[in-house]
Amino acid sequence: MRIARRVSQIGKSAIHEMTRLSKEIDDVAFLSWAKPTSDTPAHIKEAAVKAIRDGLAGGYSESSGLPQLREAIAEKLNRDNQLNANAGQVIVTVGAIEGLAAAVMAIIDPGDEVILPTPTYSTHIRQVQMASGKPVLVPLIEEEAFRLDIEHIKKAVTPRSRAILFCTPSNPTGTVFPEQDLRQVAEIALENDLMVITDEAYEYFVFDDHKHFSIASIPGMEKNAISTFTFTKTYAMTGWRIGYLHAHEDLIPQITKVHIPFSICAPVVSQYAALAALRGAQECVTEFKNHYLSTRNFMCERLDRLDHVFEYQKPGGSYLMFPKIIIDEGRDSTAFCIRLLQEGRVSATPGIAFGPNGQSHLRLSFCVPQEMIDKAFDRMESYFGRK
Ligand SMILES: Cc1ncc(COP(=O)(O)O)c(C=O)c1O
Repeated sequence: MRIARRVSQIGKSAIHEMTRLSKEIDDVAFLSWAKPTSDTPAHIKEAAVKAIRDGLAGGYSESSGLPQLREAIAEKLNRDNQLNANAGQVIVTVGAIEGLAAAVMAIIDPGDEVILPTPTYSTHIRQVQMASGKPVLVPLIEEEAFRLDIEHIKKAVTPRSRAILFCTPSNPTGTVFPEQDLRQVAEIALENDLMVITDEAYEYFVFDDHKHFSIASIPGMEKNAISTFTFTKTYAMTGWRIGYLHAHEDLIPQITKVHIPFSICAPVVSQYAALAALRGAQECVTEFKNHYLSTRNFMCERLDRLDHVFEYQKPGGSYLMFPKIIIDEGRDSTAFCIRLLQEGRVSATPGIAFGPNGQSHLRLSFCVPQEMIDKAFDRMESYFGRK
């Protein structure tokens, strides 16, 4: 069968492969999924049920989303992200993922280069490939808690560069890129007329003294930033497939040209649920955050007891971390994770899934009950042996 090159060049997803293998084994301790294990809060579900009962959910909405939802999103972007946003600059999308894909498709021509600080969420790399763009991977500085390498990013810019794409807080490293670094990225973008595309899925899950900063809030970046967000993580709404993007109003009609053939509009029932999420009480977000903070601390304590196997950078945000495997067997992260699964009954994601410099690492999720972390680490302690 003849498959388009832009698709056939894309390898199997290591994340989905690990999920498939995990299903073959009984009673696995799962640290490999980046989806919240909590259920969607009741008031959000109720709003969806009401929308169905009231006959509001059966048709399409405007392709850019329900006007009242876009209004609520614009308010949130002004309040929490310091953007000078209005509803006309917002498209409601099928999760952040569809927003990102639409943004990349709208601005990347075949052969255009997109700079991605890595390790990064592998879907971003694939989205660039699907637009026939060229991913240019620039390593983060691991020793400095996976911070951005500004000098390296500058050097990576060529006449073919078109965009810089990253997530903050980061999947998989949990780094919250600080404002001062993002200001330097903005300078590079403005000097070279590059677009900055951000994935801010974990914006509310930041710990300690870290602060989430939206690069689009920098004056002068209005035409050079496309920012994507989601309800998936903030409100534990993974399956509702609902997110949004913000961009300059001149870009919105162009991105909409991609959004429509991909999705027509985001699921309408989910749009009503999202409206309730934004308009309703926000305690659920604080509860999720507090839970992740406590499971992060707990996972770090358990990792400290395995410091003959792993070294790690404490994540400042998200609910993910990216320890380095310091024993020889870790050189091939896929083989390591498969053995850990089959012999130790612990599921983790091989670091190589997040770019070549993810090799010798594994990604662990702490968006799970503490008991799951305990179970996984008890097993790893018996598998690797205590110090
Ligand atoms: C960085 C990042 N962006 C986006 C997503 C998915 O977002 P959505 O469900 O809104 O498409 C994930 C999910 O794991 C993620 O880690």
